[in-house]
Amino acid sequence: MEGEGEATLMGAGKLQESESGKGAASGLNRASRNRLNDRMLAHFSGSTLFDAIARAVCKAGCLPRKELYEAWEVARRVHRRFRGGRVVDLACGHGLVGQILLLMDPSLSEVLAVDRRIPPSAQRLAFEMQTAWPGLKDRLIMREGDVEQVTLRESDLVVSVHACGGLTDLVLERAIEARARVAVLPCCHDLARCASGGLRGWLDGALAIDVQRAVRLEAAGYTVVTQTIPSDITPKNRLLIGVPSD
Ligand SMILES: C[S@@+](CC[C@H](N)C(=O)[O-])C[C@H]1O[C@@H](n2cnc3c(N)ncnc32)[C@H](O)[C@@H]1O
Repeated sequence: MEGEGEATLMGAGKLQESESGKGAASGLNRASRNRLNDRMLAHFSGSTLFDAIARAVCKAGCLPRKELYEAWEVARRVHRRFRGGRVVDLACGHGLVGQILLLMDPSLSEVLAVDRRIPPSAQRLAFEMQTAWPGLKDRLIMREGDVEQVTLRESDLVVSVHACGGLTDLVLERAIEARARVAVLPCCHDLARCASGGLRGWLDGALAIDVQRAVRLEAAGYTVVTQTIPSDITPKNRLLIGVPSD
């Protein structure tokens, strides 16, 4: 397993450190669940890709601030590691992470964003993103459905941000079945149901569950990469990446 600390943007193509979405400079609390809206536009007046995305999110007026930062931080780490293919964003909610990946990687064929219940406001977000970047229109498919029902391909890149409890395990299972690349940011660890491999005497329960997930991926023939996104955005910040070994 390969562990990586906080992001340096090595090999990130065109991304610059100034695009890291840092909130400290603007004094914003990045963990806030308040919805971003027009009144917040002035906080994102810069010329970076992050600022432009944040402005589209503000105009849509539907996304909690922390979700913007979570999606950005996950997308930039995933982009550093993977290029091309189709992104399948499972339990996608508003589907922002996939849309950011489309902006970062022109070689992606498309994003399929799937959720059991797509929030009606996801359309507003997609509209604002497509107004800013018309090229996104033909490359984003949002579909209501269950993670169980999605047909995955080996060439896919499966991403899932905060799929609650055992849903993260299902996402990993589905990716492993297809031998697809995968990146998950787990949340709501279910200590009663999710496997922790007897490690809870040594490790915090949620950590034990995520360690087991990493072990499972490696046993399935994946190279595992463990990272974190900044903890001031969310304490559920462990990013687990799996790259199928040849
Ligand atoms: C905590 S939200 C995360 C949403 C989004 N990924 C984000 O980061 O904001 C979990 C999402 O999982 C979806 N969900 C729950 N069970 C599901 C299932 N079996 N198949 C598809 N989506 C599911 C819910 O509808 C919800 O939108």
